[in-house]
Amino acid sequence: MSELNGKVIIVTGGASGIGKETVLQLAAKGASVVVADYNEEAANKVAADVEASNGKAAAYKVDVSKGDEIKALIDWTVEKFGTLNGIFNNAGIGLVKPFLEMDPASYHRVIDVDQHSVYYGMYYAARKMVELKAQGTIVNTASIYGTAAAIGSFNYNAAKAAVVMMSKSGALELADYGIRVVGVAPGFIDTPILGNDEEMKKALGAQHMRGKLIQPEKVASVVVFLFSDGASAINGQTIPVDDGFLSFKTK
Ligand SMILES: NC(=O)c1ccc[n+]([C@@H]2O[C@H](COP(=O)([O-])OP(=O)(O)OC[C@H]3O[C@@H](n4cnc5c(N)ncnc54)[C@H](O)[C@@H]3O)[C@@H](O)[C@H]2O)c1
Repeated sequence: MSELNGKVIIVTGGASGIGKETVLQLAAKGASVVVADYNEEAANKVAADVEASNGKAAAYKVDVSKGDEIKALIDWTVEKFGTLNGIFNNAGIGLVKPFLEMDPASYHRVIDVDQHSVYYGMYYAARKMVELKAQGTIVNTASIYGTAAAIGSFNYNAAKAAVVMMSKSGALELADYGIRVVGVAPGFIDTPILGNDEEMKKALGAQHMRGKLIQPEKVASVVVFLFSDGASAINGQTIPVDDGFLSFKTK
């Protein structure tokens, strides 16, 4: 199956977790994928794995919190692969602290990495796609915590709620240029961002209908669908991939 043949798509945070699984699935469907991450070594490995299975990928080192670096990433991608058909603005971090200890540095760091990065990715990618007259799709990673507040997550809640609204607002402004913008809101996903505390991960997993963490490839398959023509009537919405997390209070 090669429904994304010839498409060029950037995945930020592509070196790990949700981003990595998305890179592998996009490449398996024929897309040329840029694995954009500040973990250069891990990004190189993901790109090499794709190439080893006859896919097309290239790694690029970027700090998504810096607008000039995202602009350079987009220019580099077009130089390398000839066009741009989409970006998955997915790189992110968490920094959990009670609100009374949420000092300005902790607040701004998460807003910079999880929110401003999405603006930069949308802005520079959309301008490039319009310039190239290349229709395309922008997918942004929000979270269940863009809708539900959580203790210790004031910065993350704010950033992810902004991502939900930026996806809607961007969709409205870009529709006339043939660019769709959508979001994905994962529940708790079994990736390195959750750390190594197995007890805590079990407790997080228990908050889903199937009582366990969601695997990253389950988010990736939804993202791949959102990039496909089958999703052409989904625009502006953020799709939960949360195994029911947002649908009930306690199981
Ligand atoms: N895992 C979860 O439970 C969960 C739930 C909801 C939303 N999310 C979101 O999903 C996205 C992906 O997270 P994940 O779970 O795959 O985590 P992960 O830690 O496995 O992957 C995140 C990747 O982003 C990269 N990254 C972080 N900061 C960066 C920066 N400034 N510049 C470039 N790259 C950077 C990291 O190097 C890493 O490769 C994040 O936006 C996260 O907030 C995760």
